[in-house]
Parts: sequence; C-alpha cells; structure tokens
Amino acid sequence: MIDQLTVDRIMAAADVVEVIKDFVSLKKRGVNYLGHCPFHNEKTPSFSVSPAKGIYKCFGCGKGGNAVNFIMDHEQMTYVEALKFLAKKYNIEVEEKELTPEEIKQRTERDSLMVVTAWAQRHFTDNLQKHSEGKSIGLSYFRERGFRDDIIEKFQLGYSLEQRDALTQAAQKSGYKQEYLTKTGLSIARNDGTAFDRFFGRVIFPIHSMSGRVIAFGGRIMKSDAKAAKYLNSPESDIYHKSHVLYGIFFAKKAITQSDKCFLVEGYTDVISLHQAGIENVVASSGTALTPDQIRLIKRFTPNITVLYDGDPAGIKASLRGIDLILEEGLNVKVVLLPEGEDPDSYAKSHSATQVLDYIEQNEADFINFKAKLLLNEAKNDPVERANLIRDIVKSISVIPENITRSVYIRECGKILDIDESILYSEVGKIRRGKMEKILGKAQYSNTDTPPVKAKETPALPSFVENVFCEEQEKEILYYLLKFGQNVFFEIPPPEDVEEDLPPQQVTVGQHIISEILNDDLEFKNLVYKKVFDEYQKLMEDGREIDYRTFTNHPDAEISQLAVNLLTTQHKLSKIWSKHQAMPVEEENALHESVPKAIMVYKSKVMQMVLGKLHEELRSLNPKDQIEEVNQLLVRLKTINELKNHISKELDRIVL
Ligand code: CTP
Ligand code: MN
Repeated sequence: MIDQLTVDRIMAAADVVEVIKDFVSLKKRGVNYLGHCPFHNEKTPSFSVSPAKGIYKCFGCGKGGNAVNFIMDHEQMTYVEALKFLAKKYNIEVEEKELTPEEIKQRTERDSLMVVTAWAQRHFTDNLQKHSEGKSIGLSYFRERGFRDDIIEKFQLGYSLEQRDALTQAAQKSGYKQEYLTKTGLSIARNDGTAFDRFFGRVIFPIHSMSGRVIAFGGRIMKSDAKAAKYLNSPESDIYHKSHVLYGIFFAKKAITQSDKCFLVEGYTDVISLHQAGIENVVASSGTALTPDQIRLIKRFTPNITVLYDGDPAGIKASLRGIDLILEEGLNVKVVLLPEGEDPDSYAKSHSATQVLDYIEQNEADFINFKAKLLLNEAKNDPVERANLIRDIVKSISVIPENITRSVYIRECGKILDIDESILYSEVGKIRRGKMEKILGKAQYSNTDTPPVKAKETPALPSFVENVFCEEQEKEILYYLLKFGQNVFFEIPPPEDVEEDLPPQQVTVGQHIISEILNDDLEFKNLVYKKVFDEYQKLMEDGREIDYRTFTNHPDAEISQLAVNLLTTQHKLSKIWSKHQAMPVEEENALHESVPKAIMVYKSKVMQMVLGKLHEELRSLNPKDQIEEVNQLLVRLKTINELKNHISKELDRIVL
C-alpha cells in the first residue's frame, strides 16, 4: 500500500499532458491538446487531453481518465504499479524513506513500544508458567475457571507478581527504556523518577492487534478487594486506541470469514470460553462501549453480527445501545440474550458446544423482534408506552442506510406491532428528513416562520414507490452533481427578526440534489452511479471540500472512469435555449432550470415505470377474491397518476 499522502503528492505532480506526451504526440488546440488515440486505430485525431481538468478522453473510442488511468491502460499496469511508475518519473519516493523525519520517528517509536509490549507479554506468561507464585495463584485460577492449557497458551495469558515493581525492575535490567514502559502504561512514573507497575497481583489477558501483535493488556484482580477494580486495562497509547480495537479479532478473523458471521460479547473470558467450546468467530468490545470503528473492523469480514449478552438489565441495555450503532453501519444485527445470571463464559462452561449453538439458534432474534418483545413486555397495554415503543423501533429502522433493508424491516415491524405500514414509512421518512436537514444546515433557520426561498422542489413521491432502473436519468443527475455540485444553487435569507447580521444561507447544487433524492428514499439502480452518489453524500456529511478531482482522481477505477466520462460529455444544451435565445446560455447560468428538470425527468421516469408495475399487478389479481388488494392498487394508481400529471405540467412549464 502506498499511503494517501504519497498518492496525493503523485497525483499533484503528474501533469497529464506531460505524462501522455511520452507516448502520444500531442498538438495544442485551444485550451486542450489533441492527438491520435493510442487505444484504437484512427486517421483523424480525436484523442483530447485537458491540462486544466487533468484528464484525457478519446471521442472516437470513449477511453478516458487521469494520468494514472492512462498509464494503467497504456502500460497494462495495476493501480499501484502505475502510481509507482509516475512516482519514479517525478522523483517521488514511495518507500518508507520518503516519510518525513517526524513520521519516521513516530513509526520507529511505535515499533519500540511494541517491542516492549511483546517483551512484557513473555514476562507475564513466564510468570504464569514458571514462577512459583504465578503457578500457585494465576495458573491454578485459570485452571479452576476451566481454561484448558492449549487455550491458555493460545491467548498468551499471563500473571503479574504481587511485588509492586517486578515488571519495571525486570524490564530495566533487560535494557528496556523507562520512557517506553511509561508510554505503554506498563509502568507508572513517580515524581522522584522511580516507577512502579500498573499491573500487580493480577492475571493478565494480552490484547492483540489485527495482525497478532500484543498492543495492550487487561488484568483481573485475584484478591477480593472492594476498592480495586475487577479489571484493569492498559491506557490509550500510540499503539493502543481502544475504540479501534476488538479483543480476540486476531484469533477470530478466519472463523468470521468462514462462517460469515461474528458473535459480539462483552468480556475477555467470554471470548476465551467460546473459543474453547469451538466457537471461534467471536470478539469482545471489552471495557468500552461499542464504537463505530469497532463495528467497521468486523464489517471487513462479514455483514452479520450477533450480539450475545447477559440477560440481566445491564446486558440488555448494552445490547440495545449496540443495535443502532450496528444498523447505522449497514450491518445485519441479531441478538441473543442468555438466561439471567449467565454470561457467555459461564454458559459455555456448563454446556457442550452443541448445546451452546442450539441455544443461540433457538434464541437468536432479529433486532425488531428483540426490541418489540422486550418493550412490549414493559409497555403492556399502556397506549402512551406503546407509542414510545413504536417510536423507538422506528428510530432504529431509520438509521439503516439501505432503503430496501428499511422496507423489509418496516413490513416486519408493521406485522409485529400491527400498525399500518404507511404510517411507519411516514415516521421513518420524517426522522430521515430531519437528519438530512441537519446535514444541509437548514436547521439553522428552520425554527423561524420565515419561509425559505425555495428552489423548485419536486413534489414528494409516495412511500410505496420502489426504485426502478432508469440509467439515463441517473446519469444526467450525476452529471450535474459532479460538474456543478459546488455551485451555489439558491440562498435562504436569514429570518428578519434576528438581531445579528446573518448572511443568507447558501445551498449548493450538490446539497439540493442529494436532499431531493434522499427525501424520496430513492436510490440509484446502476451500481456504479450509486457508488458515486453515496461517496458524494458521505464527503458532504463529513463536511469535506469536494470538487470533480476528488472523483476523477478516485482510487476506485470505476468511479474515476465514470467521472471522466461525465465531465467530458459534450452536453447538449436543452433545445429550449437555442430556440429562445440568439446566444446559447452558458450551462452554468442555466442550472436553476436544468437541475430541477433533470430531477423531475428522473422522478417522472420512476413513476412511469411504477405505473407499469402497478398495472401488471392489477391484471394478475382476481377482482372478486382480492378486493382489498385491488382497491389498494387502485388508490396507488390514482396517486401516481396525479403526481405524474403534476410533474409533467411542471416540466412543460420549464420547457416552454
Ligand atoms: N471490564 C473492564 N473493567 C471493569 C469491568 C469489566 O474492562 N472494571 C470489561 C472486561 O473486559 C470484562 C468485561 O468488561 O471481561 C465484562 O465484565 P464482567 O462481566 O464484569 O466480567 P467477566 O468477564 O464476567 O469477568 P469474570 O467472569 O472474570 O468475573
Ligand atoms: Mn463472568
């Protein structure tokens, strides 16, 4: 892997004309360069290079891209090879050597820290296996808990002696720098320059990185001491970022991939006991509340997470918290609660592996069923409580990024709670719109009565509209998104009754397009288009500066290719302009008409196709037996027809 900094540097240095000139003879034509396309045979040159945009495009064969794409295509290289090729041309070092001195220092320091933690792990393990105190207290404790020797070895369990500075002393004797001992949190420095151990008189659970290196430790107390914490963990350090680490991931990743599923538990001993029972696809958030970064770690291996927590109130609460976070990352989440008083560790101890798996299988609940059952129990017949419960579940559904998945859950939820789906759709829609507005910053003025100066918003589509395939229209919208996404589209004036001098709030073309599509829960069907759309949305949410180079230089070749194609499309200006005006209007000045038009054409196409589907469904129904279904379809048909007419009129208005 080449780090992003280096990639950016290469991209900035690689002048597309300079790069291509090594292979194709180019002549200047206006602002661009023209030559014979190297990718197909041609007599008249149609290969154009734009130094301003940093891209090339052949209008004969359609090939196009940035400097890296050119090298990849022309020299048949992979992305990384092409980057290295260009790095060489521009004397940019891609090896470690080109890291800044500061970065080199950081890297060597991290290495040094890991050398110390690796040593400490061996020290703790030796204590456990060889030292008389370790054997009599630590090892016998683990054995009493039922841990097998091979498992103790596999997880590199250890023991810290009761002597307050045993490790610190031993480390110094072996020549390890005090600085690193302190930075990893193994030692705690006193003011007088001496130091003592963080862990003493505890059994030790080393925490491994994804690649299996020891980066931190957890220690469990041996003496019953009301004042001391049962578990003590290494502090944050340059090598240990708690929110990015899952206990057991190194030992679990293979099994997670194989079973396409990951069990999530709370503690060290849960992971270890399940392993011992033969269930290896298990990790623990261990000591911290689950974080999005931890979920993303799992996402690399599987989209399926099953939360396996204690059935006590604390466990239930923790699992509820985790559910929304997992849903938000777009993963599938199931929940298994163990009988009250049991944790996965104790349950795995008292039952065979088959029994454990059977229990999981029989008690695994979809998050909706889990929440519904749990909360229904509390709510009973209290209507207020029931309403709260519905709101709670709707909130969970609304964080799911994929709208097909959302629909599935809405159906499920409607069934379980016996509520009309359309109500659920509208509630979910409300929450999502609220979020969207936050992203767009509209909220700033939304608590006032001043109506915003609206751009032509298209009417909202009814919730039963499904996504249909209309690539042409999707592409048209992306064209405006990529090319003019950062242009200011309209302004919302500040409310009049505000004291301060607020500037009007600007909404960009990109913000407008994204909110128009998301508000109707539409989703592009062409997967590459969807990828670009999602990426744009994500960058926007992160508050990043976006311009077309973000996309033409995108490491995902499908994205950069599409971006280049779109940006080099000779866009036919709508005929209206040439009809009405002597001079064609600059595209940029016509956005207030062309953008809403593109969106409306898209929505109108969606509705046209939905109409077709509804008619088809209607034909397949028997009017006598399925009177209710028929009626529902007729209502939907009517809604769509009206909407379609409305949009057509709007479109006519623009076109005329
Ligand atoms: N934990 C922690 N610090 C604490 C308490 C708990 O880091 N003060 C973490 C540990 O990773 C622990 C997990 O939370 O494994 C679950 O806590 P708990 O259920 O109390 O511990 P068990 O794993 O059941 O521990 P044991 O069976 O050894 O008592
Ligand atoms: Mn326990």
